[in-house]
Amino acid sequence: MAKKSKPNDRTRSVINDKPARYADQEVMIGTAGEVHQTAAGDVPVLTTQQGIPVSDDQNSLKIGARGPTALEDFHFREKIFHFDHERIPERVVHARGFGAHGYFENYESLADITKADLFQRPKEKTPLFVRFSTVAGNKGSPDLARDVRGFAVKIYTKQGNWDIVGNNIPVFFIQDAIKFPDIIHAAKQEPDRGFPQAQTAHDNFWDFISLTPESMHMVMWIMSDRAIPRSFRFMEGFGVHTFRLVNAEGKSTFVKFHWKPKLGLQSVVWNEAVKINGADPDFHRRDLWDAIKMGDYPEWELGLQLFDDSFAEKFDFDVLDATKFIPEEEVPVRRVGRLVLDRCVDNFFAETEQVAFCTQNIVPGIDFSNDPLLQGRNFSYLDTQLKRLGSPNFTHIPINAPKCPFASFQQDGHMALINPKGRVNYEPNSWGGEAGGPRESPEQGFRSYPAEEQGAKLRVRSETFADHYSQARQFYKSQTETEQNHLANALVFELSKVETPAIRGRMVAHLLNIDENLAKQVADGLGLKEMPKPADAARPTQDLKPSPTLSIHLNGPKSFKGRKVGALLTDGVDKSLIESLKSALDGEGALLEIIAPKVGGVQASDGSWIEAKQKIDGGPSVLYDAVALLPSEEGAKLLAKEPAARDFVADAFAHMKFIGHTAAAAILFEKAGIAENRDEGFIALKGKDDCSAFVAACRQVRFWKRRVN
Ligand code: HEM
Repeated sequence: MAKKSKPNDRTRSVINDKPARYADQEVMIGTAGEVHQTAAGDVPVLTTQQGIPVSDDQNSLKIGARGPTALEDFHFREKIFHFDHERIPERVVHARGFGAHGYFENYESLADITKADLFQRPKEKTPLFVRFSTVAGNKGSPDLARDVRGFAVKIYTKQGNWDIVGNNIPVFFIQDAIKFPDIIHAAKQEPDRGFPQAQTAHDNFWDFISLTPESMHMVMWIMSDRAIPRSFRFMEGFGVHTFRLVNAEGKSTFVKFHWKPKLGLQSVVWNEAVKINGADPDFHRRDLWDAIKMGDYPEWELGLQLFDDSFAEKFDFDVLDATKFIPEEEVPVRRVGRLVLDRCVDNFFAETEQVAFCTQNIVPGIDFSNDPLLQGRNFSYLDTQLKRLGSPNFTHIPINAPKCPFASFQQDGHMALINPKGRVNYEPNSWGGEAGGPRESPEQGFRSYPAEEQGAKLRVRSETFADHYSQARQFYKSQTETEQNHLANALVFELSKVETPAIRGRMVAHLLNIDENLAKQVADGLGLKEMPKPADAARPTQDLKPSPTLSIHLNGPKSFKGRKVGALLTDGVDKSLIESLKSALDGEGALLEIIAPKVGGVQASDGSWIEAKQKIDGGPSVLYDAVALLPSEEGAKLLAKEPAARDFVADAFAHMKFIGHTAAAAILFEKAGIAENRDEGFIALKGKDDCSAFVAACRQVRFWKRRVN
């Protein structure tokens, strides 16, 4: 039998009209104790999408307080209907991404090599939007997957949008776009089981790779630390393909685009990446967000590698082959401007999610080359974006719309937001003047570079693409010994997750064509019983000169700027020591983050209160570039009992971080099992000078000599 509901004002669900206190909020209380917050003063009235004011957003319309919900509740139905349709398809690749606004500033006029408007006037700033991404993982995957990072830039020039849709690696897995669905299917989760997520450590990926020799150069890059960057701010970007710059006289120069981070290169180590993914799956996006919000604007320089036909002809490899790069030692990178990110998005969906980059968005003065990967991409992006954004009118969305005047006769379609007035929607027409609408412009309009093309119609791969191992070897040989070890360890880790022994063997056979020691190290790590024969190679491996610019360690930062120290404190901490550390870090442009047993903070020895940013188990040392252990004697004894504190210390040591510490921290070293292993990466902090010495040491970022990894 239905219970009788309490009689009340029959159209209102609040107990009375007087506000009540609910925690620290002034609210109205509903008949079942639910919280109502109402509009008043400058708090606007909630409405439906049709603009109808809403009286109660806590309760649906019912027949009696305990009765069925009425179908006529248009507010409820509209709210749920809209919620049901909130998601749009995620990107088929690069689903996980993070964007920010900024500008490009030209250093000098490049009129001699390109007529692109944005490069004409020195010091001119052009607005842009950048989206960084991972490739394989779905939208909710962790930031520190071992993966290529997308580095896509949309520059809103005065002659239309120019997109440089690049990666943080200058080469790619495949040579022809027709193989893109295969490499992506193989890399993403296996179709029967739906896992693994955001990982290439599985059979399908390595099966495909082991049967695709052209991918060997890229394999070296993704198994290197480039695939686990410390932050977007510390990675390079590359346009990958050869493009053309064309000047006002119609002269073409080949170009490769580079983005060089002002803060230098830095990566994490693999064990750290695995732990960061648990501790803060949003590590990279948070880093970018925080840096911009703090006014510490990330910067990159645009670099151009410029070359002509004669270089292209004499270069060892085909400049149309996206599995090859041009060493900077052969064609230097000319830095022509800077990219600054100075504004976070206001709305993640509207901007980061809806932004649509496309390689075919180029402006007069830029042109394509015949790279078959680029040619395929030019079709793919527009096509996928129609599905992803649901209408050919996605260019009307503010993030995608040009910031220069634009006009066409394209019309209608879903969600058409820009609808010209008047009669004309075609040309030629005889209406004339404004009424006749836009007309083509032979002077300003985009004209393709008139490259001479001829040949039989063939479904073939050029033989000039056939050398698959020489640059892979060159990359490996250009790494420091530590980096080579990381690369070998990564291969062993990934291939150890491969369940089919034949695939592991096939990969080692390829490695034999790259470097014998690498192959042996990996075979040993895998416990391979018998060394396979080297894989059949279409071309023998050339021994190219190492290119030092390929090493992260040789191109690391010269300062600790933009990095973060995690300081573990307890009650009784020496306040003046913390202040000295903070001032040394401020001087360097680096950050200090306080970690304590409780997030409320700690009481310093002088009785003052220091607030913490993290509780110890929420702020593991993997989240910091270096650590400072500053407990009091008493505090250290208590901390030593906490597993999270022991891991904090043990991980900082294992990840080769610099460790600043007070004498009281000794008990933590004992508990972490590293008391006997203290090296020059441990820096005793007693006063101001020690803090400066600690920060100076941190400029090396890691104490690589420790060699635990
Ligand atoms: C040099 C090789 C490539 C690079 C550097 C590259 C780079 C990127 C980047 C950075 C994004 C993410 C853009 C964003 O943040 O929204 C992306 C997305 C995408 N790429 Fe590529 N890609 C490459 C090859 C290809 C190829 C060969 C194809 C297909 C033939 C392709 C198809 C796609 C598609 C369909 C998306 C999703 C686009 C969207 O939904 O907006 N990519 N790519």
